[in-house]
Amino acid sequence: MSTQQYDSTRMASIYNEVRPIPTKDLVKSIINQLAKSVNPKSNGKWSTAIDVGCGSGQATFLLADHFDQVIGYDISEPQLEIANQLNRFTNVSFKVSSGEDIPLDDNSVDLITVCEALHFFDIEKFNRKVDSLLVPGGLFVVISYYQVPRIRLADGSNSSFIDSVVEIIERTRKLWQDHGFPVKIYADQIQAKYRCIDLPFEKVCHEESFEVTLRRPASYIIDLLNSHGVSEKFMEKYPEKHEAHMKETINQLNQIFGTKDLSSIQIDVVFDFFIICFKK
Ligand SMILES: C[S@@+](CC[C@H](N)C(=O)[O-])C[C@H]1O[C@@H](n2cnc3c(N)ncnc32)[C@H](O)[C@@H]1O
Repeated sequence: MSTQQYDSTRMASIYNEVRPIPTKDLVKSIINQLAKSVNPKSNGKWSTAIDVGCGSGQATFLLADHFDQVIGYDISEPQLEIANQLNRFTNVSFKVSSGEDIPLDDNSVDLITVCEALHFFDIEKFNRKVDSLLVPGGLFVVISYYQVPRIRLADGSNSSFIDSVVEIIERTRKLWQDHGFPVKIYADQIQAKYRCIDLPFEKVCHEESFEVTLRRPASYIIDLLNSHGVSEKFMEKYPEKHEAHMKETINQLNQIFGTKDLSSIQIDVVFDFFIICFKK
């Protein structure tokens, strides 16, 4: 099941500003795992990594130091435009392609990463592509995080509001779901750590300990909601409902935080990244 949810310039720009990027420790774990099954070349690097559904390069750039070439693939040109603007690496490039149809030679890729995107793919077709592209011993790594983060006040005081904030995010997702936008199936897949998806490869690691904390104004919660591709689709189809829901959400946040100026309150937003590594 492919998606065109992140295909506007506005959406790609919000996404890039709002979403977290994986930690260097997470990438180190992947590289340590790769070293167990594929030897690096004499320069200490591997030949090729690809990051599929790369967005604006959230995971792609982190691979640059370890490979001669890194290619990020995505179906969204606006996402790749931003990735190209951010690109400071000569060995990193971005190309438009669906993950299921990547035009590289068989047995030519040491590492395939998919960050926060596997749930959008035609999985049977993608599995076949992964199998053909990877060198023997090469790794396919699923990286993700649950999009309802843990939230606390930055000064550590009064944490009683946290559940109310999480409820607001959940309520918004239910609104989208009830209007025919399939967010639940994606959320369920991520929460189940993709166990419900058939990935017929040898699993060699599953690590969950990669916390990313963003310190942001409380208004970030609105930005986070708007960074879902579905949010824009819902807004286009039901503009009045979108506006009414956003107004209500802002009012609720004003009450929870005790201010009409959400930008005056700092919160810590904690995303828990996990990785699952499969070996060919
Ligand atoms: C939630 S974003 C993830 C972006 C980035 N990897 C990250 O970690 O934040 C999902 C991305 O997958 C892309 N995508 C969706 N279906 C795809 C497919 N079949 N092939 C390649 N990219 C796809 C979307 O365009 C979008 O940029």
